Amino acid sequence: MKVPSSLPPVLLKETSSETWENSRRPELLALLRDEVYGAAPLRGFSTRFSLSEETKDAMHTKIDCRAYTVTVSAPLGEYRFPFYLYLPQQRKGPLPVLLLINNRERGLIDPKSSRTDGFFPVAELTARGFAAAALLTKDVDTDQDDGFQNGIVRIFESDLSHRAPNAWGTIAAWAFGASRVMDCLSQLPELDPARISAVGHSRGGKTALWCAANDRRFYSAYSSCSGCTGAAITRGKQGERVADINRAFPYWFCQNYKNWNGREEEMPFDQQMLLALIAPRPLYVGSATEDLWADPQAEFLSACLAGEAYRLYGEKGLAGEFPAPETPLHGGRIGYHLRTGEHNLTAYDWQRYIDFLQGQPDFAVK
Ligand code: GCU
Repeated sequence: MKVPSSLPPVLLKETSSETWENSRRPELLALLRDEVYGAAPLRGFSTRFSLSEETKDAMHTKIDCRAYTVTVSAPLGEYRFPFYLYLPQQRKGPLPVLLLINNRERGLIDPKSSRTDGFFPVAELTARGFAAAALLTKDVDTDQDDGFQNGIVRIFESDLSHRAPNAWGTIAAWAFGASRVMDCLSQLPELDPARISAVGHSRGGKTALWCAANDRRFYSAYSSCSGCTGAAITRGKQGERVADINRAFPYWFCQNYKNWNGREEEMPFDQQMLLALIAPRPLYVGSATEDLWADPQAEFLSACLAGEAYRLYGEKGLAGEFPAPETPLHGGRIGYHLRTGEHNLTAYDWQRYIDFLQGQPDFAVK
């Protein structure tokens, strides 16, 4: 395993799950919130949802799709966005759910699309016993440097030109949106609220991790090729660095994160802490061999280091060398695989994540 130029800050200060739960975990969540992703509202809003359209035999399959509209009400107004839920026509009992935070085009998740793609292979997911849900990141907040005037942030903040240095960025806004979808999914009798997992690729993968770190209703998270400020350890990372991401996407993270441009070695945090916040829930990290911008080895390293928090709960973690492509590793509640190919989310990746989920003792017994 590649060792970074300097070791990331220690994850644990104490060695019991009580001190982790009561002190270190809240401390790390606040650190990443204030220095990296920014603070999303925790209260002062309400969510409701309504069915807007139902499509039978969606994507030319024996699967029905429901489009729902989520309405978030906050002091400065209401904000609406859709999400899609695919249910197999033949089903037994409340289904586990895979919720994709889709950072690409709507056509990949829209039932009217004639296109089926490995990025969201609905037929394969339902064939393995899941309901598949998806939201489009851009429906929650635009993926543009527009001063937060067009997305969900504007119903919470009246003065967008004077934002706090830890005010939430777009990744946190997308994560907030995924939690609002969870508010809705967890109320549907066709679904099992205890087995809803967040899945995302690249910027969507960074979002899935931050979402599951904050929202413990998510059973599990899977980040595909999430790289810089996602799964990858920042210290010694190849490819994208903190200054690169802050330059290209200045609105993704809070203002404070820019203080760490070029100062990675001094950061009091690193990305294994983000992964550790998901403990003891199942966590899966996927990389692709050609995705050097994300740095597969740095993603693997982080997944290994996060195991320290899992071990506090008596769970195993990942151990061993960086695996060969197409050789998934399962260390109890943490899984990892390296896929041959480019930066993408494919049917192969989903299948390996499902193998991992279905191998979890508490998943299988349901
Ligand atoms: C850019 C960005 C990455 C991000 C990726 C994506 O390449 O630099 O951090 O993960 O876009 O979302 O596809």
